[in-house]
Amino acid sequence: MKFAIVGIGHIGKRHIAVIDAEPNAELVAICDIDLDRCKEQSELYGGIPYYQNYEEMLRDSGCEIVSIATPHGLHAEMAMQAAKHKKHILVEKPMALSVDDSNKMIEVAEQEGVKLYVVKQNRFNIPIKLAKDALDDGKLGKVYMVQCNVMWNRHKEYYSNSDWKGKLDLEGGALHTQASHFLDLLVWWFGELEEAKTVRGTLHHDIEFEDCGVSALRFTSGVIGSLLWSTAVYNKNYEGSITIIGEKGTIKIGGKYLNKIEFWDVQSYPLPEDIEFSDKPNNYGKYKGSSSNHDKLVHELMENFAEKRNGIVEGAEGLKTIRAIDKIYQG
Ligand SMILES: NC(=O)c1ccc[n+]([C@@H]2O[C@H](COP(=O)([O-])OP(=O)(O)OC[C@H]3O[C@@H](n4cnc5c(N)ncnc54)[C@H](O)[C@@H]3O)[C@@H](O)[C@H]2O)c1
Repeated sequence: MKFAIVGIGHIGKRHIAVIDAEPNAELVAICDIDLDRCKEQSELYGGIPYYQNYEEMLRDSGCEIVSIATPHGLHAEMAMQAAKHKKHILVEKPMALSVDDSNKMIEVAEQEGVKLYVVKQNRFNIPIKLAKDALDDGKLGKVYMVQCNVMWNRHKEYYSNSDWKGKLDLEGGALHTQASHFLDLLVWWFGELEEAKTVRGTLHHDIEFEDCGVSALRFTSGVIGSLLWSTAVYNKNYEGSITIIGEKGTIKIGGKYLNKIEFWDVQSYPLPEDIEFSDKPNNYGKYKGSSSNHDKLVHELMENFAEKRNGIVEGAEGLKTIRAIDKIYQG
């Protein structure tokens, strides 16, 4: 498939590298308002055509699918613009900043007959797959509780060097950026979020939304739990974890990026041996982010297209995270 990418900042560069390396994809254009960035990436990838104007790229590049890796506040409009040009869409998380915008994106994609996918690369993490298999097979029995911790460091320049991070209208909040990866997994496993009681505050950074928060949660399945999230952890990322407490077992997926099994005690279902926990975080130099499994996601996406099957998170599924985020902020 012919891919184009809009937004070639921190994660857009990873999209370029992944699509360039994927045998079933061809990168035909990149787009960014930053001309230097366009030139630099174009040179790196053999003179790939670049555009500073998104509409022009959609019109002229001949792409079939667009990866959107721009600030959150632009996702909805850019996705709908792509759909109107009959392009399929792979939008970075969070798909949008509001439930209304997410619904509009889904509606327009349907009307135009194009696919709308949302990046949820943590679903490809090895520990996540192990836990998902155990849950699907009922190995944990009834699940009672879940505890999710996102204890990360974002340094001051992460916000002060950006024209959109830390801004309510363009970033939304830390739930949209950091915690949305984790919320996707929680609603995937335990059903949509029914109830949330939240306390949050801006304790460390000079930004327009919270850098610390904690919420007590109840999911439609009856599972109750907690989410603690912070970008104010001293010096470096400390933990990204999900602990599941079930009738017949306990699993803690941990490490800093949901990349390890910290604890596994499941009745008659030991952790399979000889597993290599090889998931890596995205490394942006001064800070590290969530898992870098974009390569697995794009590969799976291409296979799905070729074989006309589903499996990658689409708009309606991505919307569940946005609904959960709204509930936690309102709770
Ligand atoms: N899945 C993940 O693990 C992951 C990791 C990092 C970022 N992200 C997501 O990717 C998106 C981008 O984040 P980032 O950290 O790379 O941001 P960034 O600021 O590094 O990059 C954004 C880029 O978009 C460009 N841009 C802004 N407005 C534009 C416009 N109108 N037209 C074209 N280009 C425009 C900017 O010039 C910049 O190069 C966000 O939605 C973020 O949540 C996802």
